[in-house]
Amino acid sequence: MSTTPSADLGRGQPDPDGPRTIRTVIVAATAALAGFLFGFDTAVINGAVRAIGEQFEASSLVLGFSVASALIGCAIGAWNAGRIADRYGRIRVMLIASSLFVISALGCGLAFSLYDLVLWRVVGGLGVGAASVIAPAYIAEIAPARLRGRLGSLQQMAIVTGIFVALLSNYALVSFSGGASNVMFGLETWRWMFLAELVPALLYGVLALTIPESPRFLVAKQDFKQAADVLRRFVGGDVNAKIEQIRKTLVGKPDRPSFKMIRGAAVGLAPIVWVGIFLSVFQQFTGINVIFYYSTVLWQAVGFTEQNALAITVITSVTNILTTIAAIMLIDKIGRKPLLLIGASGQFLCLGTLAVLFGIAPVVDGVPELGSTAPIALVAANLFVVFFGISWGPVVWVMLGEMFDNRIRAMAISVAAAAQWAANFFISVTFPALADIGLAVAYGFYTACAFLAIFFVLKFIRETKGIELEDMDKLEATYAHSKG
Ligand code: GLC
Repeated sequence: MSTTPSADLGRGQPDPDGPRTIRTVIVAATAALAGFLFGFDTAVINGAVRAIGEQFEASSLVLGFSVASALIGCAIGAWNAGRIADRYGRIRVMLIASSLFVISALGCGLAFSLYDLVLWRVVGGLGVGAASVIAPAYIAEIAPARLRGRLGSLQQMAIVTGIFVALLSNYALVSFSGGASNVMFGLETWRWMFLAELVPALLYGVLALTIPESPRFLVAKQDFKQAADVLRRFVGGDVNAKIEQIRKTLVGKPDRPSFKMIRGAAVGLAPIVWVGIFLSVFQQFTGINVIFYYSTVLWQAVGFTEQNALAITVITSVTNILTTIAAIMLIDKIGRKPLLLIGASGQFLCLGTLAVLFGIAPVVDGVPELGSTAPIALVAANLFVVFFGISWGPVVWVMLGEMFDNRIRAMAISVAAAAQWAANFFISVTFPALADIGLAVAYGFYTACAFLAIFFVLKFIRETKGIELEDMDKLEATYAHSKG
């Protein structure tokens, strides 16, 4: 519960904490730039993939693997980021991620073979994985509890904006040159698609140098003076009491972070870490990235022209941006758990509709002919993105940032985010095979996952809205009781 004078922020009253809030928003937005690179990097390949295949004469299987290989880099990057963040600081991880993005953009843009390109995509993936851990952790650690959901959602806002800008930048480049394989200023256009990432990657690195280290990390490193300074500038309230409170939550934290810290009796890991892993896996297993990675193929397969399919993809990504704005307005008011429930239920209905439509459509040349039901499928797919955008998209990243206590946060997010990238990889590589058996089978699977997600939320998710990070251990303890 917030007791600060600015608890009314967002309800029309002036905010007496105004300047501090503005500073916090700027710092959180800078950290969220990591999300922009995450979105841009994962989406930029779409527009380039066909031209890359032509240039390096790759089979579609090899090409498919080369697309998905970046996701393996993401899982490895996420897995290691927590340890580095606990040892060397949150800002250092941001600088490493930014360097990886720069190297990857240059490497991919100038790649001389497909294997070379795959290598640089994996390097970029390491950056994306690290970014996916550090942005939610840092934002949760610098934000006051009353604004934490909204500020944490900036990360998802940046991800979806990154996806949109990558689509737009690809489109602009192709419009200028006339085709992804055409040469422009001495290089093929698809190379410029990757090189375009240099701009946000460098900007992220430079801006990361201007923001302060996380106060929770500073206290862990016993740098109380600087921690007090950061808390004063960004959080407010009784700074010394806060430092004391943080210090108490860190008692027993080893100097050298290791995965031992998140061990527990429950199947090797602490129960709360399993909750984080399942949140991540359910976010992916309802098939959101099938829409983002394969939608053009999907819509063409069921009868739309290539141009219309592309237009639908752009509309979908705009829908995702708008719904994220709605989530930012709702998350600190109605809370995380209700949003997850509304989202999973809505996704279940939309995915079920798609499964039925694909199931009853006559199959011509292995593809369901939707015919007059095509508009219903389109509405269902976009409504699915709406339900995801107001709930599982932002809420999972916000909760991963805030649900773990100060001792285990970085390590636990690392594991949960790595699981998310592995789940993303699994869904991305299995979709083409499942779609070959039948789109109804693929969507039947995602529908079943959404159904399970509803029960998972009901039974295992505890509301984190408004709770101070220093009180999260109490929330963790409730899992031990319910198990016990
Ligand atoms: C979330 C997911 C990510 C997905 C994005 C789409 O950030 O973690 O995998 O691409 O939402 O909105």
